[in-house]
Amino acid sequence: MKRKTIVTGGAGMIGSYLAEVLVAGGDDQVVVVDDLSRGQEQNLRHIADRIEFRHGDLEDERFASLALGDANTVYHLASRAFGVSYSDGRHLQILHHNEAITQNLLTALGASPPRCLIVASSSCVYPDQGPDTITELPTFTGEPERVNRGYGWAKRFLEQKATLFGQEADVRIVIARPFNIYAERYRWAGEHSQAIPMLVKRVMDGTDPVTIWGSGNQRRSYVHAYDCARMMHGLAKTTETTVANIGTEETFSIMELTKSICAAAGVEPTLRTDASRPEGRFTKSADMTHFRSIVPEFAYAIPLEDGLNRMIDWYHSTDFKAAP
Ligand SMILES: NC(=O)c1ccc[n+]([C@@H]2O[C@H](COP(=O)([O-])OP(=O)(O)OC[C@H]3O[C@@H](n4cnc5c(N)ncnc54)[C@H](O)[C@@H]3O)[C@@H](O)[C@H]2O)c1
Repeated sequence: MKRKTIVTGGAGMIGSYLAEVLVAGGDDQVVVVDDLSRGQEQNLRHIADRIEFRHGDLEDERFASLALGDANTVYHLASRAFGVSYSDGRHLQILHHNEAITQNLLTALGASPPRCLIVASSSCVYPDQGPDTITELPTFTGEPERVNRGYGWAKRFLEQKATLFGQEADVRIVIARPFNIYAERYRWAGEHSQAIPMLVKRVMDGTDPVTIWGSGNQRRSYVHAYDCARMMHGLAKTTETTVANIGTEETFSIMELTKSICAAAGVEPTLRTDASRPEGRFTKSADMTHFRSIVPEFAYAIPLEDGLNRMIDWYHSTDFKAAP
């Protein structure tokens, strides 16, 4: 008999790949819970007849208690996640929103505990000060990432509350901390979009010069959402209660990333930097030693070059006028 597995935020960029990975595995009866505030039904069209979709807002306690019961495994990805420009001036709002979801999730699961709860945290829980390549920290010092501090605190609270929940309800907890994830399933969010879709749009629109926020030298590690989903799935399949980074050690500067996008698009605009815009810490990459030790069979399927070509396709298939 199949195990019932719930994916909150399962119509979103990462969650929809996760639902696909679970369906392909064949062991799970997959239930997607999403309010479609950022997710898109089209992300699930390949598997629509093989999943159950529960449409509703997890900020609504009643909906959460009805939608989240009776599962063997729960992947919790629902969250309001935008680019840095959205966070600016909205830290408290983002914290409130995510806290409401966390509260409703854990209340609902308390009434009907799964065997395993995997939560999508974020690398934003890490402070700006620290090593370039970040190892999973058991405890926190300082503030979370400054440019995303409301979101970072929300993810810290999610981690802490999930851990306590696991101890008290005897549920195995897996905390996944993705770094920079991108994919062609990204839903355009106008000026609040994340870095890769924003840069792809500027380049493909023929913008010249293309302006890059900050110095352009800030370095990040990028993972395609399909690989991120497979990594979360890999963590869930172990027997460990664990905290694990989801990223790569390899980094690209925003300038290098922009040049790669230009190369994929076949254009050569002038590239300018705008030092007055926030750029966050200089280098941020994931120490993947721990992940590799518990999921040794994992191999990345989509290198950045292929992923950027997919983002060019994303540009051609996106109706930017219809987007917010
Ligand atoms: N994309 C990244 O770079 C990144 C990095 C670190 C962590 N994460 C985390 O991974 C998870 C998935 O991120 P994503 O990039 O796929 O984002 P996404 O916005 O595509 O997915 C989030 C999903 O949650 C849904 N959702 C939001 N609020 C909801 C609510 N109140 N009720 C029900 N559903 C709701 C949205 O409709 C969306 O489908 C999030 O928790 C995010 O914080 C993402």
